[in-house]
Amino acid sequence: MKICVVGSGYVGLVTSACFADFGNTVVGVDIDREKVKQLNKGKVPFHEPGLDELIKNNIKDGRLTFTTNLKKVVNDSDLVFICVGTPTHRNGSIDLSYVERAARNIGESIDGYKIVVTKSTVPVGTSKRITGIIAAALKKRREKVKFDVVSNPEFLREGAAVFDATHPNRIIVGTESTAVRQVMSELYRPLYLLGTPMVFTNCQTAELAKYAANAFLATKISFINEIANMCEIVGAEVKDIAKAMSYDNRIGGKFLHAGIGYGGSCFPKDTRGLVYQSGAAGYEMKIVAAAIKVNEEQVKRFCRKIVSQLGTLKNKTIGILGLSFKPNTDDIREAPALAVIDFLQHEKALVKVFDPVAMALARRSVKGVTFCRDAYQTAKDCDALLIITEWNEFRNLDLARINKLMKKPVIIDGRNIYNPGEMKKLGFIYTGVGRG
Ligand code: UDX
Repeated sequence: MKICVVGSGYVGLVTSACFADFGNTVVGVDIDREKVKQLNKGKVPFHEPGLDELIKNNIKDGRLTFTTNLKKVVNDSDLVFICVGTPTHRNGSIDLSYVERAARNIGESIDGYKIVVTKSTVPVGTSKRITGIIAAALKKRREKVKFDVVSNPEFLREGAAVFDATHPNRIIVGTESTAVRQVMSELYRPLYLLGTPMVFTNCQTAELAKYAANAFLATKISFINEIANMCEIVGAEVKDIAKAMSYDNRIGGKFLHAGIGYGGSCFPKDTRGLVYQSGAAGYEMKIVAAAIKVNEEQVKRFCRKIVSQLGTLKNKTIGILGLSFKPNTDDIREAPALAVIDFLQHEKALVKVFDPVAMALARRSVKGVTFCRDAYQTAKDCDALLIITEWNEFRNLDLARINKLMKKPVIIDGRNIYNPGEMKKLGFIYTGVGRG
């Protein structure tokens, strides 16, 4: 098939690369000339394991190119994917201007039948809005071109996006047209061998299904974090509780890791987005609102632990291990580390930081901290060391060396990567989350 993917951000690039790898001819479109130039050389502007290679290979094999000229390529395509960003305002309302511009450009350009597929996470009702915008642009041109709009949300995890795109748990296709369902089935045919289930439904259901999945996972995290908080009061161990819960097949073991709270470009945005949309529709989404509140309080609770260990933080040196919102990504959007740094700076502490991959991005936006070359340089002369992201390399540190380097052997672990008993034996004053 011939595919045009509008937007070469995170979702757009993974989508473009994977569809090209399935054997389709794909053109990625972006308005950023420099980005397009770099992409055509195979250079990916962010850290995502396996993506560089996939893009390079498919460019080399002639199945993948990038351009800034949507008008030129859209008519050569059977399917047009909208993968542009949907930034969210703090109150959860979503800025659809990029999606709307993409729809307008499509309506201003197409000369023949197209299937327009939305992969961006968009509020319920957006497919109808896209349909209206394309129809209005065509009317203005006095063109009677047929098109269909489909909702096909992505469920990619950063750091595992290529795997998720090629081994998805499910494909959701929102359209009421049988012919379009057939085309979408054909597109995802390479996944049939893996037995990937496809859920065919209407557009608004597909749009809401994406929010429901993310909000449920975020709620699961906040739930275990609340149990962890209670563990701290009554002397229970949250890891054992999570293990005990996980053996119940109805619950499952995933997303039961207690810690400093969730971050990233999806969960915070999508939970707020769902509460906002449901409120606008006249329904108060109480559970998800509570999950958001618990998450916001979780990082504050973590900060209070630093104070209860050290007293005043003024002029104390605090080391932070991990800046990205989770391992295997350099993404620091809504990362708990940023909230902790804000707090420490407000309390006038001296902050040292290290992250295995997020340093370059962090240098651009995090000011007034000392960027270190590794965990050991970070730990040197610290009054406390904070584990904020559970990078594998932090699990295997030479802890005896860390202990010697620190001014005071205090470790506050926001990801529960160490064993409290062993840490005590090594001479640390160690606090995790919900560790009795
Ligand atoms: C998420 C969804 O998993 C994905 O399907 C969707 O399309 C986009 O949002 P992502 O944001 O990349 O993906 O990260 P994910 O691995 O889901 O983790 C989200 C946050 O939850 C991270 O901050 C992580 O540290 C935190 N988390 C996750 C926990 O605190 N505990 C857990 O048990 C699991």
